[in-house]
Amino acid sequence: MSDKFQFPEGFVWGTATAAHQVEGNNVNSDFWVMEHLPETIFVEPSGDAIDQYHRYADDIGMIADLGFNSYRFSVEWARIEPERGRFSAAAINHYRRVLETCKAHGLQTMVTMHHFTSPRWLIEDGGWLNIASAEKFANYCAFVIQELGDLIDSVCTINEVNIPRMVALLWAGGEPQEGMPDFMSFANTASAAFGVEMQAFAPFFFAGSPEARDVMLAAHRQAVIAMKAVKPTLPIGVTVAMQDMQALPGGERKRDELRYEIQDVYFEATKGDDFFGVQTYSRDRIDANGAAGPEEGVELTQMGYEFWPEALGATIRYAAEKTGLPIFVTENGIGTADDTRRQAYYERALACVADCLRDGLDVRGYYAWSAFDNFEWLLGYRPTFGLIAVDRATQVRTVKPSGKWLGTVASSNQL
Ligand code: BGC
Repeated sequence: MSDKFQFPEGFVWGTATAAHQVEGNNVNSDFWVMEHLPETIFVEPSGDAIDQYHRYADDIGMIADLGFNSYRFSVEWARIEPERGRFSAAAINHYRRVLETCKAHGLQTMVTMHHFTSPRWLIEDGGWLNIASAEKFANYCAFVIQELGDLIDSVCTINEVNIPRMVALLWAGGEPQEGMPDFMSFANTASAAFGVEMQAFAPFFFAGSPEARDVMLAAHRQAVIAMKAVKPTLPIGVTVAMQDMQALPGGERKRDELRYEIQDVYFEATKGDDFFGVQTYSRDRIDANGAAGPEEGVELTQMGYEFWPEALGATIRYAAEKTGLPIFVTENGIGTADDTRRQAYYERALACVADCLRDGLDVRGYYAWSAFDNFEWLLGYRPTFGLIAVDRATQVRTVKPSGKWLGTVASSNQL
């Protein structure tokens, strides 16, 4: 008898990407504007990215050939509605071809409606601080489902709806360090580029106030209602960035306070959803003053945080208990140049998923971040999260050993 763990029949095995990180030339988005400012805090612009806008057919084929049965990707609001109220039939036709290609390869489709980037006009209109944006988002989502719903198996409304609060409360709290980009002077020129006052400068990622959180949660709820009106059977959820927040001695109260603001508030907003998306990369150690940083001696990833795959087990359990919803791991992975560490990370993280399943938790699927090395936001192309490497000069793709390994786990449904 094999001592391998058998995942439940129908378990979803996927990889994930996001439009702006892979498509290239997302010129009508807010990020495109911000990446090209003289005071930009991005280490490099996204440019052609990995040109998935044109190479999607080969890319989707590679994902299927590796052994996965699902692809999670995002559709780009800035392409679908490049000017307020004007929808692009060409963009919709493009995504129809992408979805059809997934289907032709037998891949289930999980579509994210918003993955950090917004149309630039939305930011000109007050972005994620303007409550009117919630309805605009819901209209766009309903339009996508009307046009493409026949090919979409499940939807994530907003990717990591809590990340702006998390950045504001956990990571941006420290003193500015030498060599760190100057956010204030960036925000100053960036707000001017969108023609708004500094206080009204609210691209998703930088909108970390409680007011912006409420706009985002309203957008999620209104989008769920609007999409269900078009396709009542569509499974819909939201995804949340879930670090395992561990209290150091004396840090329990602070941890609970921060975890309430960064995670629990969002769980309360998932009532009426069909599933919950857990996105976990590492842990955060919290002392009485807040984030305590990595523990000495623990291996770090390219992102500067700890190599800590066990965070996934803790966060699945916490989310399942608090939401009572079926769980999808919608992102999990590691930025590393050493592919053997990637495989080690996935082995340990998946062992945690197996433990959760053994304990009877309703975990429905697992998406590795990411299918390809891609544009890691402010850090540009330096961190490499891909199961597939991309030479950006030639756009040649090469499967990494970790990709082959994880694909075999996926196709055998065994660990
Ligand atoms: C985001 C991805 C990102 C990944 C790795 C998540 O926060 O959803 O867009 O690339 O983490 O940092």
